[in-house]
Amino acid sequence: MSNWYKITEVDNIPSMGSRKIEFGDTEIAIFKTKDGSIFAINNVCPHKQGNLSEGLVHEHIVTCPLHNWDVDLASGEALGDDHGCTNVYKTKIEDNIVYLEI
Ligand code: FES
Repeated sequence: MSNWYKITEVDNIPSMGSRKIEFGDTEIAIFKTKDGSIFAINNVCPHKQGNLSEGLVHEHIVTCPLHNWDVDLASGEALGDDHGCTNVYKTKIEDNIVYLEI
């Protein structure tokens, strides 16, 4: 069974950046794209576990800081010729607060 968890105000996540949270043993990166969309994915690159929260955000994609794989923020899938996937989580915004479904 999943639940919605209150994370932070939308304004606390930098545009084209992220906030990292810990949920048990899992690190989750909450991203805000230039168009204001919010995404949540495991903070683990599907290549060799780079910290995606430190990556470069463009469109709805994050580029891993270690070896430049592009990861789709909506699906968690590696793009282009690269193959792999990291978990994604549903988010919602209510009253300017970001919630995460886990
Ligand atoms: S660890 Fe992310 S591209 Fe290699």
